[in-house]
Amino acid sequence: MTELRIMPQDGSSVLACTRDPQDIGERLAAVGVRYERFAARRRFGADTEPPAVIDAYRDVVQPLVDEYGYRRVDAVRLVPRADDPLWLEQVRQAGETFRAEHWHAEEEIRLVVEGRCCFYLHIGDRVHVLVCEAGDLVSVPQGVRHWFDMGAVPELCVIRLFRDEHGWRGAFTGEPLPDRFPRLDELGVQNAH
Ligand SMILES: [Fe+2]
Repeated sequence: MTELRIMPQDGSSVLACTRDPQDIGERLAAVGVRYERFAARRRFGADTEPPAVIDAYRDVVQPLVDEYGYRRVDAVRLVPRADDPLWLEQVRQAGETFRAEHWHAEEEIRLVVEGRCCFYLHIGDRVHVLVCEAGDLVSVPQGVRHWFDMGAVPELCVIRLFRDEHGWRGAFTGEPLPDRFPRLDELGVQNAH
């Protein structure tokens, strides 16, 4: 289930909440964020590697590459291994990095093709909390402060499109905002799949 909550930057209340994709798209477009749905019906085995996922979604990815002139496409795929302490510690450390507020020098596109995750987009004095599921396309515009939560036991695959051929590069703000907001696991939004 995709859900958008709009909250003040102090995290004290919910100003608006919607699960209607068109409404989500319009509210995000109003702050310069692209959001749309795409068909995410492909199913992959536990051992499927990211390049195979990207190949399977070439029909979705290539038009975006052509439209935006992206130079790099990668995919982050996490298949849950809840009984593997080493894996849990590795994803916890990676999750803490992404859960710190940061911004990028370029607009990036994310295609959620499996699982769920949450983007927190800090725009003006508000935070747009977007819980994503498979089939969600969302842009993170250049310079927009944000953070990302994939939950304590992540299950997700996200295709990422970059103009920077080096891939993910973030500038951290050091702001304590993320601590004022519910984590993905606390938002109570269930996966529809
Ligand atoms: Fe980011």
